[in-house]
Amino acid sequence: MVDIAFARPALPKSGALVVLVSEGEMPSGLWKQADDATGGAIARALAVAEFKGTKGKTCTVLAPGAGLSRVILIGLGKPKDFCELAFQEAGGTAATLLARETAAAIGAHDFTPGQAAQAAFGATLRAYRFDRYRTKEKPEDKPKLAKLAMLVSDPARAKAAWEPLAGVANGVFVTRDLVSEPPNVLNPAEMANRCKKLTTLGLKVEVLGPREMEKLGFGALLGVSQGSVNEPRMVVMHWNGASGRARRKDKPLAFIGKGVTFDTGGISIKPAGGMEDMKWDMAGAGTVIGLMAALAGRKAKVDAVGLVGLVENMPSGSAQRPGDVVKSYSGQTIEIINTDAEGRLVLADVIWYCQQKYDPKFMIDLATLTGAIIISLGHEHAGLFSNNDELAEKLGAIGRATGEKVWRMPLGDEYDKQIKSDIADMKNVGGRPGGSITAAQFIQRFVNGKPWVHLDIAGMAWSTKDAPCTPKGATAFGVHLLDRLVAQYYETAGGAD
Ligand code: BES
Ligand code: MN
Ligand code: ZN
Repeated sequence: MVDIAFARPALPKSGALVVLVSEGEMPSGLWKQADDATGGAIARALAVAEFKGTKGKTCTVLAPGAGLSRVILIGLGKPKDFCELAFQEAGGTAATLLARETAAAIGAHDFTPGQAAQAAFGATLRAYRFDRYRTKEKPEDKPKLAKLAMLVSDPARAKAAWEPLAGVANGVFVTRDLVSEPPNVLNPAEMANRCKKLTTLGLKVEVLGPREMEKLGFGALLGVSQGSVNEPRMVVMHWNGASGRARRKDKPLAFIGKGVTFDTGGISIKPAGGMEDMKWDMAGAGTVIGLMAALAGRKAKVDAVGLVGLVENMPSGSAQRPGDVVKSYSGQTIEIINTDAEGRLVLADVIWYCQQKYDPKFMIDLATLTGAIIISLGHEHAGLFSNNDELAEKLGAIGRATGEKVWRMPLGDEYDKQIKSDIADMKNVGGRPGGSITAAQFIQRFVNGKPWVHLDIAGMAWSTKDAPCTPKGATAFGVHLLDRLVAQYYETAGGAD
């Protein structure tokens, strides 16, 4: 992670200076000092570039003098449109433009502690890279940025605002690392091992293997796993950070993730083209794990439990067949029509276990569940399904503020009819119409009246292009969204977090 520091505004004597500039702003402060120190080089460059501070526009001045390697101006747009995202994105843009620098400083006119922290957050998120398997990259091709100083009049307050965000950024990186790993490395057992390593953050981690899950009667999850030589796991992560007024002794908040470390489709095998994408079919679990790391990393004053069902969906002589009937942990029987509709089978058992064992305040599950949600919402919103208007509305609002947007989809008896089976309590697919909705209906059959949200993140977990705060690849969608929900939930409930 880039080393972030906070200091009072002063022109750096070397390295790069970034100034975030609003539309129509006149030079003052650091901007004017840099211009004066370089004999007007900045003003001349800005005039030639016709830079006006428009949102997302940038201007780089190389070696302007005064010992500076470069001065970069980044447009923030109009002050009336300022929000946390504007500063995050400006920070992210700065990180890309600073790749060839080792040290840089970022400032802005009237830079508030919160804005400086958001810019640091954006820069940190954008500077992420998964380069573990590149052995031939030349040192000069690797990004060099190691130190970033945020220039702000109240550095102590800015640092205090940054500290929890650093915990969230670390959680995001935990998720991105997991989701990026190739599927030969990250099988269920290895993923469980990675969870165990998070005990260093103060998480309590339990791992259940196939024998334990058999004893419990996880017929739905185990059916998915039975074709693979890689054994399944279920991991339960506990964060017990509640204290004082926020303490809820008995009931934690619960997060549940689909962790299919590779989804071939099983006997209902997927076509070859693009199948490599199914390495990230564990992104729901990856997000839950990153979220737990974020809560622990920022010492959130909450009690939360994260559960992930980890399996590999493979075709083989021992694989589950279309036509099989399995008995879930809840006791309900399921006719398997399509072995590629496996995520809901995994979630069914983990969700039931979560309710039985932890009686949570609410449950939120995340899953790369259906291709159909990508047809509905593209790559702009995750699909949100819920039996609880308050949670749904809160997540909608937080999504708009953090940029991790969700869109509520309907549930209803008419859709539920589509998963009626002639031989068992239900079947695992409901036909093409409303494919994401019938998948959610299936999951809801395992929700025992608890406030519940299902997030279908199939369109959001992986990006094929760079975004201001997210390099292409694993996005960690949901970590920031849910971290904020947890914080808000305890605030409005009179808690201290
Ligand atoms: N993991 C897939 C869904 C998916 C597709 C995620 C594309 C990310 C990108 C899921 O297990 C699946 O295969 N779903 C099927 C369900 C169908 C068989 C009812 C699908 O969406 O085609
Ligand atoms: Mn599948
Ligand atoms: Zn899947």
